Amino acid sequence: MQTLSTTSLQVRDNQLWILDQQALPQKKIWCPTPDVAELVGHIKALRVRGAPLIGLSASLLLALLAENGLSKTELAEALEVLRASRPTAVNLMNNLDRMKQALAQENFVTALTFEALRLVEEDKALCDNIATAGAKLITPGSRLLTHCNTGGLATAGVGTALGVISRGWQEGNVANVWVDETRPLLQGGRLTAWELGELGVPYRLICDSMAASLMAQKQVDAIWVGADRIAANGDVANKIGTYSLAVLANYHGIPFYVAAPHTTLDPACPDGSAIPIEQRAASEVTGVAGSFGDVQWAPEDAQVYNPAFDVTPAALISGWVLDTGVVTPAQVEAGIFQPSRPTA
Ligand code: MRU
Repeated sequence: MQTLSTTSLQVRDNQLWILDQQALPQKKIWCPTPDVAELVGHIKALRVRGAPLIGLSASLLLALLAENGLSKTELAEALEVLRASRPTAVNLMNNLDRMKQALAQENFVTALTFEALRLVEEDKALCDNIATAGAKLITPGSRLLTHCNTGGLATAGVGTALGVISRGWQEGNVANVWVDETRPLLQGGRLTAWELGELGVPYRLICDSMAASLMAQKQVDAIWVGADRIAANGDVANKIGTYSLAVLANYHGIPFYVAAPHTTLDPACPDGSAIPIEQRAASEVTGVAGSFGDVQWAPEDAQVYNPAFDVTPAALISGWVLDTGVVTPAQVEAGIFQPSRPTA
């Protein structure tokens, strides 16, 4: 395969390399990813993370394995193992459905490479279109709040919600970005803060619990988040803590926008209650782990609840900003995300 380089993925020497997002920003470590077990390990440990990036890394690895001689049967098995690596982000399943179609072709090696590279190129364009659509909603002097990481690290392009924010800043309309640190894995404190710093966008890092008082003080003009899955009724699964922000935004009359590519839509999923929510290890809550070392503060036998995502009901969302444009609550209520039914 040709060489390829995005913020957090590379293909070189016929191998996939991923930028370890658990080590950032203290260390910039590129990890070789020679096989499915390695990639599944990276995905489960969130070294590879973010809904679009998970799907792209799985697709690229499949194509590389095909080029390296795996049989059709072995590739079909690999595809299903990758599909099960994280349950909530539907981009993974959507991308792998397309790779499965490529695998069904007679010339499957060429077809898989073509499809994986096309998915990467498409993702860049999707991000760009989301940024264009979303930036139109940002008014001059905006103080925006974001949660988790939705930037170039999480996609092949400029990102989703963070792409909108950085485009808004380039257009001169963003005064400040409030960055939720995003416990327990600190994607905001480690990754979004780093990305905004690299881009030169002014930001201030806050603990998640500080967002409410900022809203009460009228310091937040709009909230922008990404999505891991959008159900047919518009409910959105995203990083744990998103729902509380939406409730707060609603109470304070602050617009709450979700930015995502159409590959995050799941028309087969009727509403948020049908979205599988990944439960993660207790150790992520009893302390922290990372390139700065491991610390545990909770008692050894502490019982923990650690869902990686929550569901924000459609009623709390002001707009779904997709690559196809801005979808309004009225359009969602009228069924724009519902599966298209054959006309009688
Ligand atoms: O657990 P993570 O870090 O993969 O969660 C990521 C998010 O929740 C993002 O908001 C979402 O995947 C969109 S990334 C463009």
